[in-house]
Amino acid sequence: MKELKFKNGDALPAIGLGTWKSSDKEIEEAIKTALEQGYRHIDCAATYGNEAAIGKAFNSVFKQGNIKREDVFITSKLWNNAHLKEDVIPALKKTLSDLQLEYLDLYLIHWPVAFKPEVTNFPQQDSDYLSIEEAPIIETWEAMLEAKKQGLVKHIGVSNFSIKKLKDLMDKTEDYPEMNQVELHPYLQQNELHNFCTENNILLTAYSPLGSQDRIPEMKAENEPSLLENETILKIAEKHDASAAQVLINWSVQQGNAVIPKSTNTHRLKENLNSLTINLDREDLEKIKHLDKHYRYVNGEFFVTPGNPYSNIYDE
Ligand code: A2P
Repeated sequence: MKELKFKNGDALPAIGLGTWKSSDKEIEEAIKTALEQGYRHIDCAATYGNEAAIGKAFNSVFKQGNIKREDVFITSKLWNNAHLKEDVIPALKKTLSDLQLEYLDLYLIHWPVAFKPEVTNFPQQDSDYLSIEEAPIIETWEAMLEAKKQGLVKHIGVSNFSIKKLKDLMDKTEDYPEMNQVELHPYLQQNELHNFCTENNILLTAYSPLGSQDRIPEMKAENEPSLLENETILKIAEKHDASAAQVLINWSVQQGNAVIPKSTNTHRLKENLNSLTINLDREDLEKIKHLDKHYRYVNGEFFVTPGNPYSNIYDE
């Protein structure tokens, strides 16, 4: 498996398993299957609500002994209602306890948005948010650094940060995020962000690489374009005797990103893991380049209530 490298030399397998939208019922078995198939990178988050089920699978697999904890790169994310500096490490410890782990390989600030601690779901009104003055991102970041210092996590980073939000944070610290996890696929190629991150030694992980069609209806726009049924992608897939998903995953890795397709299906898990067996040529890459239309499936507008301090999540 191709790997990305952190500054200290630690490796991140380029293809990981996404767990957003995987139900408790499905995920425990899916994690066991994925690890058996050879996945060594699992992406989790507290807000996905399934970390306890994932923890059961980790515990069972690691107890068996064929695959060791240190063989697997495990990520999780700090939810938006735990940005206050005193809340970061307790939130991380809850995740560690749910996942039945002693440490994480990577912990990310999930969104550049702070909710009041008691807001466990999605905000309904402006007063559900903490202002930038009440929860300065640098203080959240300093608590993340402390978690790293304490050995609870090996690497720290952010998610859903625009260039502007990265710069705002980087102006205030010498310890830059090591990772930015963002939505990224041929309809949202994120070239500017990619260049900025490369220049600053920040790795990128691509989420929703297949278009996340299993999102709840409330999160879907009308007439969403389908990535898996895109004609160009399908033609390239046919040419390589591969699936559309494999082309999409392969493309993202070709760009230098880590990528975390979600599946709970044994066959599709394997298909996705095997995406690097094809070689996209220059002509394929050129065609995919032209698919960019800055289209977001995961629109952060679900955080936006009129007048809240985060009303412009993507700074576009
Ligand atoms: P399933 O879990 O039943 O396999 P994303 O990673 O962009 O969030 O997309 C996840 C969605 O894509 C899920 O609905 C998942 O369904 C589906 N999916 C995952 N792998 C494949 C694949 N190889 N071919 C088609 N659909 C896939």
